Amino acid sequence: MSTEWKTHNESGSKRVVATKDLPGERWLEILTAADCRVEIGTSTEILSVEEIKEKIGDQCDGVIGQLTEKWGEELFASLKNAGGKAYANYAVGYNNVDVGVATKYGIPVGNTPGVLTDTTAEMAVSLTFSAARRVIEADAYMRAEKYTGWLPSLYLGELMARKTVGVVGAGRIGTAYAKMMVEGFKMDLAYFDPYPNEYLENYVKAYGEFLQSQGEEPVKVTRYETVEEVLQVSDVVSLHPLLDDTTFHLMNTERLGVMKDNAILINASRGPVIDEVALVEHCKSHPDFKAGLDVFEDEPLMKPGLKDLPNVVIVPHIASATQWTRQGMAILAASNVAGILSGFGAWADQNDVLPFLGDNPPKAAPSIVNANEVGVAAFSG
Ligand code: DGY
Repeated sequence: MSTEWKTHNESGSKRVVATKDLPGERWLEILTAADCRVEIGTSTEILSVEEIKEKIGDQCDGVIGQLTEKWGEELFASLKNAGGKAYANYAVGYNNVDVGVATKYGIPVGNTPGVLTDTTAEMAVSLTFSAARRVIEADAYMRAEKYTGWLPSLYLGELMARKTVGVVGAGRIGTAYAKMMVEGFKMDLAYFDPYPNEYLENYVKAYGEFLQSQGEEPVKVTRYETVEEVLQVSDVVSLHPLLDDTTFHLMNTERLGVMKDNAILINASRGPVIDEVALVEHCKSHPDFKAGLDVFEDEPLMKPGLKDLPNVVIVPHIASATQWTRQGMAILAASNVAGILSGFGAWADQNDVLPFLGDNPPKAAPSIVNANEVGVAAFSG
């Protein structure tokens, strides 16, 4: 396959490759202001390592790459040989990047935190209710013109209000999802995270006190020591861990087996967190069980049988796909490359990158995950 490329700001003195075109214009303005010529891949096909290496060529100052590309030894060696000084992943997750290898070559690696949090949590909520209320099945029924009149037992689903929501991985996105479900539907929260999340616990407790002050039952929060305990007590479980060796196939046959028969499993993190073959079997043998998936083990493929299951809702890794978020991610990715190529430091607070979306962005690279290791100084404004 040969990819088409288009060039923005031909006369820029630094050469930046963006393997895919990104939403909005602001990211290009940022790179132009940093005197970069930007070569942009226009194909919707996923590029191979070979194709990216060829594009990096003999001289390349920085790359904005995608979560679908394997950024390891081959690509970082080739970027280094081409004089590359920065790599920005157009994603908050960077399990596709071997940060150790990038660090070995002294290349700073950027990601895009902060702008995906609510957007991704909203998709997890959408999947929860699409699965709970069988929205996709019912939609297909209408389109097939099978609806002949209201019936007492047509598409009975699960009520979520006042049930228990489970969250595995209470980082930024897990916390946002938990708050939406607790506040919106007065659900008790059960969570597992290696570290206690005091902010979230206090938030739920304060909301519980508010409900009590209104004469309502308070909501409760419990941090469990094991994933299994969360699975046992929850009516819906949403997965929000990072993907690494400890979370690969976190949801396997045994763990699926401890969930309630009519529970709902949501995954908008990374596909391999679930053993998808085991999930297919579980959904077949437990027709009341439901799943909502944004991500898949062998993306873009699905394991055999998954797409035929009526109790599974599947969408193509679009949890962060809103205009605002994808443009924000583009701004952060461009600012990471532009910031490093301009000799700026790394923004110290990766939990607060929103100033980079404003009119007077800080003179820094917003989110460099290996800043300490490659010696990029911290900058806090
Ligand atoms: C990310 O940024 O890690 C997401 O998966 C993209 O939506």
